[in-house]
Amino acid sequence: MAFQLTDGLLLGAATAATQIEGGDQNNNWYDWYRQGYIKDDADPSVATEHYIRWREDLALMKEMGLQCCRMGLEWSRVEPRDGVFDEAAIAHYREEIQSLREAGIPVLLTLHHFSNPQWLEERGAFAVRDNVTCYLRYVRKMVESLGDLVSEYITLNEPNVYAFNGYFQGIWPPGRRSFLEMSRVMTNMAAAHIEAYGLIRKTRLQMGYKDTRVGFANHLRIFAPRDPDNPLHRFWASRAEQLFQGSLTRAMCTGRAAIPIGQHPSIVPGRYCDFHGINYYTRSTVSGPADGVARDCPVNDLGWEIYPEGIVQVCRKVYDLLPRPIYITENGTCDNEDRFRARYIAEHLQALCESGLPVERYYHWCFCDNWEWTEGVSARFGLVHVDYADQRRTVKPSGEFYRRVIQERGVSDELFQEFCGGPYRRSGEDAV
Ligand code: BGC
Repeated sequence: MAFQLTDGLLLGAATAATQIEGGDQNNNWYDWYRQGYIKDDADPSVATEHYIRWREDLALMKEMGLQCCRMGLEWSRVEPRDGVFDEAAIAHYREEIQSLREAGIPVLLTLHHFSNPQWLEERGAFAVRDNVTCYLRYVRKMVESLGDLVSEYITLNEPNVYAFNGYFQGIWPPGRRSFLEMSRVMTNMAAAHIEAYGLIRKTRLQMGYKDTRVGFANHLRIFAPRDPDNPLHRFWASRAEQLFQGSLTRAMCTGRAAIPIGQHPSIVPGRYCDFHGINYYTRSTVSGPADGVARDCPVNDLGWEIYPEGIVQVCRKVYDLLPRPIYITENGTCDNEDRFRARYIAEHLQALCESGLPVERYYHWCFCDNWEWTEGVSARFGLVHVDYADQRRTVKPSGEFYRRVIQERGVSDELFQEFCGGPYRRSGEDAV
């Protein structure tokens, strides 16, 4: 394998506040942890202590040559009580973002990445239509406070995963299991995004900036029928695609609602993305209402199929829906021993660079190992290893590989051979 990065493609890394910062016990995920729902009982108010170690992390980002980064704000930190903003927390984020800029690493800022202030959670968060106004008040305040430092925003991270896991499957807070509630949450989030899209652009324009870009980070997966000749498998695959991601994507990008997205006064036809933010990890194999993994295919340490062609397929689909530049806002893999991460990166980047699509950013997930929601700290996605006993950071071989790809603007045969020899594990007979 050998390929060059396409012109204009910047390589960076992504993080999310709750997964790295530590120090906050005022959000719904801390509450979920307190209730005992984290597999290894890892405490999110520790995580990787990025909130106090961010300078060290910034130095590592610089050393690795990252050209951009995606980071998030912890809403419960900046608005610890309803309508009360903490100026010290805002000043902290200003300092961090300013320092990143000075290091030549511009920030793509995520305003909401799964976690809610506990006061909002107790009022039903996005399951309650009126709560969207709380979100918009917070968004306005953040853009007014940080808008001179940040031109690119993500309104919401993966509303489909948030709604599906928290309101249909019941495995994330608040642990509900109702299709109707999931549908209501998706609808309200689509409306929140559409409103925030206009609000962020307007607020920055009033501040004198014309270069604003707003999008959302869309978790997109391939849903493949297990047997393409079986009409039932095809039916369930297309149904899963529509319910999990297809309808929501249309509503959020173009303001057109179809099941499971309901009617809402803010969801009206329009264009609501300046770029497509895409989080891509895997392909699901479908033969019924639940999805699974194909037999004997390459998988990561969480059993997710590794399917590099899929990243191009999902990008093409959204690009056909609305032609906008593409930002890969997350792509990465759980590889606890760092045996195949470099190969995973190379294969996904190659697919993107040979696709002919206007891919402008690639933010690898994740910059460092982190607190992986219900998995706790036992699933490692980082380019940088974190030793949770003493919080020591060490760049992994895949992190060194990434540094070289950035420096050399591509992957040569030699580079591939040096770093990407690690074999993938394969799914077993018990896969679906
Ligand atoms: C989320 C991240 C998460 C990653 C790996 C994405 O769904 O946005 O927060 O860590 O996947 O599971």
